Amino acid sequence: MEKIHLIITRQDSPDSPSYKEEFMIDYRPNMNIISALMDVRSNPINKNGEKTIPVQWEMSCLEEVCGICSMLINDVPRQACTALIDQLEQPIRLEPMGTFPVIRDLIIDRERMFDALKQVKAWIPIDGTYDIGPGPRMNEKTRLMAYELSKCFTCGVCLEACPNVNDKNGFMGPFVFPQVRLKNVHPTGEMNKDERLDGFMEDGGLQGCGNSQNCVQVCPKGIPITTSIAAVNRAATVQSFRNFFGAD
Ligand code: SF4
Ligand code: FES
Repeated sequence: MEKIHLIITRQDSPDSPSYKEEFMIDYRPNMNIISALMDVRSNPINKNGEKTIPVQWEMSCLEEVCGICSMLINDVPRQACTALIDQLEQPIRLEPMGTFPVIRDLIIDRERMFDALKQVKAWIPIDGTYDIGPGPRMNEKTRLMAYELSKCFTCGVCLEACPNVNDKNGFMGPFVFPQVRLKNVHPTGEMNKDERLDGFMEDGGLQGCGNSQNCVQVCPKGIPITTSIAAVNRAATVQSFRNFFGAD
């Protein structure tokens, strides 16, 4: 392979139409999508030999930790920083993930994910910022499960793969289930369990899940999303009875 053929879906602004632009860049061993995009940026000449505006994308950690570089690569939602050129079929098609508003080219706005986390109160309140000492101990089995859930980096890939995340039903997305479960199993977070479940039973919450299980197939961290869906649904059923009949 001497050349890498990229077909990039571009968009000049949030409201402008998208278009495709092709690039041929020199191959080097061990390249990933980010290094290919950096080559395009350093010499923004398209396949027709025309000088063009450098392609815009986002990156930070370069090791699947920040989630900012998620995009569609040959129709698969994944992170550009860990997509190796040698393992991809050519031409390589790069597109922004369609579930999110496009800001420019491959840059998307993931704010809907952070809004969803706010709606379900996916945090553990602490009483001030001073040192309050170690929290209650968790049993080892729960700690191991919680550690797996904590690996979510809001990359957005599970929303892109989910058929129920669309403009019609407003479903927040599969990633919310493990986050609600994670905070609810924490000995301190458990105190606000009811508020989280109530938030997740509102519009766009757990009723939006159709259990297609695409999410668990694409999650780069192997997060047990489907078992979290079952666990949160069970807890929500108990919570709805408590809300109806009242509880101490
Ligand atoms: S659950 Fe997995 S795919 Fe979904 S946002 Fe978190 S890390 Fe990404
Ligand atoms: S740059 Fe952070 S996940 Fe790719």
